Amino acid sequence: MAQQPYIVGNWKMNGSRAMLAEARAIDRGAHRVTTVQVALAPPFPLIALLAEEASAIGVGGQDCHTAIKGAHTGDVSAAMLADIGAGFVIVGHSERRRDHDETDALVREKAQAALAAGIGVIVCVGETLAERDGGHAETVVGRQVTGSLPLGDAAIEAALHGNLSIAYEPVWAIGTGRVAAVADVIAMHAAIGARVTDLLGEAGSKVRILYGGSVNGDNAAELLAAPGVTGALVGGASLAAETFLAIVGAAIKANS
Ligand code: PGA
Repeated sequence: MAQQPYIVGNWKMNGSRAMLAEARAIDRGAHRVTTVQVALAPPFPLIALLAEEASAIGVGGQDCHTAIKGAHTGDVSAAMLADIGAGFVIVGHSERRRDHDETDALVREKAQAALAAGIGVIVCVGETLAERDGGHAETVVGRQVTGSLPLGDAAIEAALHGNLSIAYEPVWAIGTGRVAAVADVIAMHAAIGARVTDLLGEAGSKVRILYGGSVNGDNAAELLAAPGVTGALVGGASLAAETFLAIVGAAIKANS
């Protein structure tokens, strides 16, 4: 059976209690949707509020610590996310790799911690413009997948249940309005898929591979219809219900 597309909004460090009105509207819009899985990852302070109200969308975090608890001022554990109703967490976003010097090894530890806490994981990978221009995009992303993906029984189990995804987000396409060429996206998703199957065996074929980077209502249809693209991780366009639901609508069409 084909996998359900997974459309995930990443609010990054944006949002407020007032902006939860947009999240509520997204949740209402998602109520009618049966063929696409919709989720939002607001900043930490809004997760519990949204998780208590949302009924049709998944709610998740944008990062977690590797430990369950302890002396790590300012950090939040995956177990805490699970406790307040989050169902998944994004790890290894390029903004965290850049702003917090996160390495592949750390991202994998975070992903393993999330799976141990019983929540789903979206592992982000993606090359910089210099890496793409230098012809190294597939090598770099392949290395990130090999180094960041959670491994072992917990990862296989999560993959089989649709709780392990990868987001391919070329760094130069994030927040720039510049989308990767569909042919390049198809090639990269195929390369990632092959790598994931090498790492997780047959269960690897159940790992959804989302595209991210300037996805909007105008380009989503083409991207989501591309072979190997099983969803989207959306930043800017997820901040308003109208623009985010347009992408969900494109996913419904692409999947019908
Ligand atoms: P963007 O962000 O859609 O604003 O480009 C995507 C992301 O960083 O997840």
